[in-house]
Amino acid sequence: MTSPHRAEAPYPLFLLAAMAFGTLGGFTLAVSLPIEAALGMLDLGWVSHAQMHGHLQVVGFAGLFVIGMALHLAPRFGSGSLAHPALVRPLLVLLVGGLLARALGQPLAEHPPFAALMAAGALAEAIGGLLFAVIIATTLGPALRARAPHAVLLAGGGVWFFVQAAIGAWWLSELALDGGIVLVSTRNAVLVNLQFFGFLLAAILGVGMRTFPTFFGMPPTPPRAAGGVAVLLHLGVGLWTAGGVAEVERVTLAGQATVGIAILAAVATFGFWRRTYRFAPASRGYIWALQPALAWLALTGASLLATALLALAEGRPVTVGTLDAVRHLFAVGVVTLLIVGMGQLILPEFASERLVAKPWHWRGAAFGAALTTAAVLRGILPWAGLATPARFWAMSVGGVIGLGTVAAFAFLYLRAQRRHRAYMAKIAALRSREIPLNTLE
Ligand code: HEM
Repeated sequence: MTSPHRAEAPYPLFLLAAMAFGTLGGFTLAVSLPIEAALGMLDLGWVSHAQMHGHLQVVGFAGLFVIGMALHLAPRFGSGSLAHPALVRPLLVLLVGGLLARALGQPLAEHPPFAALMAAGALAEAIGGLLFAVIIATTLGPALRARAPHAVLLAGGGVWFFVQAAIGAWWLSELALDGGIVLVSTRNAVLVNLQFFGFLLAAILGVGMRTFPTFFGMPPTPPRAAGGVAVLLHLGVGLWTAGGVAEVERVTLAGQATVGIAILAAVATFGFWRRTYRFAPASRGYIWALQPALAWLALTGASLLATALLALAEGRPVTVGTLDAVRHLFAVGVVTLLIVGMGQLILPEFASERLVAKPWHWRGAAFGAALTTAAVLRGILPWAGLATPARFWAMSVGGVIGLGTVAAFAFLYLRAQRRHRAYMAKIAALRSREIPLNTLE
C-alpha cells in the first residue's frame, strides 16, 4: 500500500539518514569533544575528531536533512515535478557512503589504506554534490529563467554544496598523499564557511523568503528586496571563499560582512517579532520554535557583520574562537531548531498525524526552549569569556541537550511516519471499498 507513495517521495530516506548521522555521530561527538577538552586531552587526534564532528553535523545531519527537504519542496517552486528522479538513489548512496568512508578514514589517515578511504569518501561526496546541484537547478529551471529570488537562493545553495565538496575532495586527496589526519585550519575554515553560509543558509533563505512572511502575516517580500538578498548572499559567500583561498584578509572580511548584511536584510522582511501569525490551530505551538530560530538568525547576521567590521577597523582577522561561536549560534539556534520545528510544521507525516491524534501544543515551546539553552551554552557562554574548563563543561551540557532534542525528534518522526502510512492506507481503502469515515480517527 505504501510503495506508490514512497516512489513519489524520495525525501524520507534522506531525513532518516540525517537523524542517524546526527544522533550516532555528530551530536555524540558534540558531547565527548568538550569533555575530553575539559580533561585536558587535547592532541592532534582531538582536532581530527573535531573536524569529523563538524563534517558529520554539517553535511551528514543538517546537509542530508536540507537536501531531503529541497528534493521535496523544489518541485513546488519549479517545474512541478522532480527532474532526474533516477539520480536520487545514487545521490543518497554517494553521500552516505562518502560520509562513512571519510569518518572512518580521516582519524587513521596516517595509514595508507585509511588515507585512500578518506580520499575516496571525499570524491564520492563531490560526485554526489554534482548530482544534487544538477537535480535542483534543473527542477527549478522555469523559476530560475524567471529569475525568481527563492530559486536563485535554493539552486545557488546546491551549487555551493558542490563547490565545497569538489574543493574538499582536492584538499583531502592532498592530505591523504601527505598521510595527514587534520586539514590545515585556513583550508578547513573555507570549507566550513561554504557549507554553513553558501549551502545551508542559502537553502534556509530560499525556502524562508517564501514562507516566513506568510506565517507572520507580512506581505510577501518584494521581488527587488528578495533579489537583493540573493545577490548579496552569493556575492558575500564568493568573496569570503576567494579571500580564504587566496588568504587575503580584507576580502575575507568583506565577504563575511556582506553575508551578515544579507541575513539582516532577509530577516527584516520576515516579521518574526509580530504577535500576529497565521498557523492552523493544531500547529500554533510551533510559533515557539520558529520565533527563537529567527531571532538567532538575526543575531547570527548582526554578529557576522559586527565582528567583520571591527576586525577590518583594527586590521586583523576575526579570531577562530569568535567565528566558531557565531557558527554554533547558527548551527544550534537556527539550523537545528528549524529542522525540528519547521520539520514538524511542514512535513506531510506530521500533518497527517495532526489529523488523527490530539496535537501536543507544548512541543514547539519544549524544542524552542531546549535548543535556545543549548545555543547559549555552546555559542554565547564560551564567547562571553567563561573560564576553562567551565566553558567546556557548559558546551558538553549543550551537546547533551542537542543530542536529546534530535533523538526526541527522530522518535516523533518515526511515530508520525507510521501513523501517516496507516492513514494513507485507510484513505486508499476508503476510496476503493468505501469503509466508514469515522475509522480514520
Ligand atoms: C550543542 C551542540 C554542539 C556542541 C557542544 C559542539 C561542539 C563542538 C566543538 C567542541 C568543536 C571543536 C571546536 C574547536 O575546534 O575548538 C566543534 C566544532 C564544529 N562544530 Fe560543533 N558542536 C555542537 C553542535 C554543532 C552543530 C549542530 C553543527 C552543525 C550543524 C556543528 C558544526 C561544527 C563545525 C562545522 C565545527 C568545526 C569543525 C572543524 O574545525 O572542522 N556543531 N563543535
